[in-house]
Amino acid sequence: MTSAESPHPGPPPQAGEGKGEAFGVYVHWPFCLSKCPYCDFNSHVRHAPIDEERFSRAFAREIETTAARAQGRKVSSIFLGGGTPSLMRPQTVGAILDAIGKHWHVAPEVEITLEANPTSVEATRFRGYRAAGVNRVSLGVQALDDASLKALGRLHTAREALDAVKIARTAFDRYSFDLIYARPDQTPEMWADELKLAIAEAAEHLSLYQLTIEEGTPFFGLHAAGKLKTPDETTARALYDVTQDVCAAHGLPAYEISNHARSGAECRHNLVYWRGEEYAGIGPGAHGRLDIDGTRHAIATEKRPEAWLMRVEASGPRRYAALSGRALDPHRIAVLREEGAITIDAGGRLRVTQAGFPVLDAVVADLAA
Ligand SMILES: C[S@@+](CC[C@H](N)C(=O)[O-])C[C@H]1O[C@@H](n2cnc3c(N)ncnc32)[C@H](O)[C@@H]1O
Ligand code: SF4
Repeated sequence: MTSAESPHPGPPPQAGEGKGEAFGVYVHWPFCLSKCPYCDFNSHVRHAPIDEERFSRAFAREIETTAARAQGRKVSSIFLGGGTPSLMRPQTVGAILDAIGKHWHVAPEVEITLEANPTSVEATRFRGYRAAGVNRVSLGVQALDDASLKALGRLHTAREALDAVKIARTAFDRYSFDLIYARPDQTPEMWADELKLAIAEAAEHLSLYQLTIEEGTPFFGLHAAGKLKTPDETTARALYDVTQDVCAAHGLPAYEISNHARSGAECRHNLVYWRGEEYAGIGPGAHGRLDIDGTRHAIATEKRPEAWLMRVEASGPRRYAALSGRALDPHRIAVLREEGAITIDAGGRLRVTQAGFPVLDAVVADLAA
């Protein structure tokens, strides 16, 4: 999904509403080390290593084609969200940012946020991200006690999360972290204490999400079976009020449903969504809103990571479609590729491999069928 720090954003912005100079680019990294039982984001666990170079080329290609549809924009914010973008190597992040800079004009004061999970391994990459151009991180801390983290299925402890916050503070001028509240058995008093602790650690920005039981998640099944009890409506309301009151009293009022910041420290990318400004969505399942020929277009990409890769890689063969008037079937391309009969180069061109040569006629016939 494209919402930077708002999994459940408010009313969808209307076309043209609050239109200004801002233009955001959202890039989705769709992989996680494990799937949290409450999460219905477009995030997937893979047991084989991810071919980051291949993804990197596909991101560059999609950036190129999207920029061709949205020319002349000046990028004011970039958000690398997920999934878990902090699983990407800094080189991959650098390549994505280079591609954005190659195809769009990027404002000198651009805000570049990367979403990170607060494990120690990921925190070691922070300096690499900064060197690649990232200037803000958003950490998924979720809770400040180990029992809650365990119940949420998180892979980190509270200590580890706070250490990651400390590393973020030294590596970046701007950072934020997310907490989930209205957790099972949480009282307003417990939440007020946790929030005060969080505010002491968060310099300028916090994202505070009320736990939502999403259909299709393990939490949904447990909740339906009565095995997971979330706070009743009155307690949930009290938890929300505590959130607003404690944050406002400490100088971090809400500037959007779930986001709190000191004045001037609002996430600019988040404001792009909130104000209904234009943004491009890059990567599996990313959404964009672009004004093309005077009309606002909502654009969504293929959600499944490997299918997205195939589609983007097959966009080079679209030239064939333009010439012949018919498209090549991405499924046939994938099968021939799996069989080692063809490859697709960085420019999206199909090449027949040595193995494919003896059966060239059959390969061509298969593709053109
Ligand atoms: C797309 S997630 C990515 C962050 C990162 N992968 C992580 O988990 O640390 C962004 C944020 O959405 C929030 N979130 C996800 N599912 C939620 C749910 N069901 N209810 C409330 N908040 C949720 C979490 O706070 C999470 O940090
Ligand atoms: S790590 Fe983040 S994106 Fe991945 S499953 Fe957990 S909450 Fe969702």
